[in-house]
Amino acid sequence: MTNADPSPARPSRSQRPRRRVAWIAYGTATAATLVIWAVDWSIPWVAERELWLSRASGWAACTALALTLSMTPLSRAFVWATARPISGAQITALRRALGISSAWLALLHGAWSFVVYLDAAWTAVSYWPYLRAGLAALVVLLVLLSTSFAGFNRRLRIRLWKPLHRLSYIAGLLVFQHLLLAPFAPKRLVLGLVALLLCIELARFLPRRSKGVEERDREACDPAT
Ligand code: HEM
Repeated sequence: MTNADPSPARPSRSQRPRRRVAWIAYGTATAATLVIWAVDWSIPWVAERELWLSRASGWAACTALALTLSMTPLSRAFVWATARPISGAQITALRRALGISSAWLALLHGAWSFVVYLDAAWTAVSYWPYLRAGLAALVVLLVLLSTSFAGFNRRLRIRLWKPLHRLSYIAGLLVFQHLLLAPFAPKRLVLGLVALLLCIELARFLPRRSKGVEERDREACDPAT
């Protein structure tokens, strides 16, 4: 959930590429949800199906969040490695779409896990630390989602909006806690993925390559996320 610039109803010629990358992200998130659902229907055992849907939807939300957090350093690394300029506006649009997708996927996952897998047992959520961490992460993602809409953004103004969207790192840390404590989560894989994410984040400190690239690079590497 990142830079959300208020846009008119009909996209101008310059806005079309941004819209296209955003719709690619939304389309991929929708396709992933449908595939998860289809696989779920093919599983014969109810208990296995419930756990599969909970885990798979959780990983879909987690992947979208990890991509959101790594979009800026990856674009910086790309510009640094290839010295080719990239469109900061498209990176921003993609990052925003990924952030929005991660919040919706997390909402689906949380709702499914709570209602079906946990039988809507609030006592379980208040008792198990991994569920409390998941709930807290979901709340943060939903706050970010609500601030991603143009109307809200106009009122919030960019000065407040940037620090607010750094909350996505807090959401990332809470998801990390959720996964470290979740009974079925593959802990080594989780630690490996977090180490990879931290390595990617280091790309933020890469020097800028050239003046021509710099302007667009700076735009692409907006420090907000
Ligand atoms: C109300 C909020 C949430 C609830 C009630 C919840 C509940 C659950 C439950 C019951 C499981 C299955 C237990 C297990 O796999 O060990 C699970 C797994 C998972 N959750 Fe959540 N969760 C919530 C929020 C989130 C959020 C916000 C994310 C990420 C954005 C997330 C990511 C995951 C992942 C990746 C797994 C799979 C772990 C595995 O491989 O087993 N969850 N969650």
